Amino acid sequence: MMTIPKLIARAGKGERLTMVTAYDHPSAVLADEAGIDILLVGDSLGNVVQGEATTLPVTLEQSLYHTRLVARGVTKHSLVVGDMPFGTYQASEAQAIENAARYLKEAGAQAVKLEGGARVEATIAALVRAQIPVMAHIGLTPQSVHVMGGYKIQRVEAFLLDEAERVQAAGAFSVVLEGVQRDIATTITERLEIPTIGIGAGPDCDGQVLVWHDLLGLTDSAPKFVKRYATLAQTIRDALKAYKTDVEAGTFPGDEHSYAGGHK
Ligand code: KIV
Repeated sequence: MMTIPKLIARAGKGERLTMVTAYDHPSAVLADEAGIDILLVGDSLGNVVQGEATTLPVTLEQSLYHTRLVARGVTKHSLVVGDMPFGTYQASEAQAIENAARYLKEAGAQAVKLEGGARVEATIAALVRAQIPVMAHIGLTPQSVHVMGGYKIQRVEAFLLDEAERVQAAGAFSVVLEGVQRDIATTITERLEIPTIGIGAGPDCDGQVLVWHDLLGLTDSAPKFVKRYATLAQTIRDALKAYKTDVEAGTFPGDEHSYAGGHK
């Protein structure tokens, strides 16, 4: 099984880390079997599963519930990280510890992720003191959508470097760089000792993360940085149409899908 010390050691040897988001048990089983290093139960849950416009409405209970489904699907390899929703760690260090501990105690995660740099460095330090491993997340932080006025690529090098160094000093075991100009992500990755995991941050991060629905083509459109490794939306549409055609024509169920004779 993947552990946090193993992740850090792998990145230190120049071995790239793989992370995907996952929200349910069957997806977790598949990702774990595929040897994906980290399953993030992202608050992208709001967008891709709940149909919300932003991640902001996701609640702690919903996030814990989905984290539990995912953790139950992991038996071989993947580390499970729960993503703390907006409003569940900003009020105080005590609030953050109380809520983060639930991911480890009740949901079976090994770590939590939270968004922000300088503004959460004291919170990260408090969680780490409480023995809760923290993945940080800087750059484009979707929970700040209203402060940022949209989802904007982050290009201010000095600021981003400072953010990265602060979350590392606070004790984060890795940091997600989201929507960060490629050369800045490269510099941050060279400067930091902890692994960087990029999404829309170029190829030089220590690892990469993609959202499950984007990677598998379950959504009809995706941002520029996404590579689609399958076109499952079309596969599902075709399957559902074929099922409808068969049922309407009376060709399903046929003999091979029916129980013949007796009452058993
Ligand atoms: O919620 C999420 O899916 C994330 C990833 C994009 C890193 O935070």
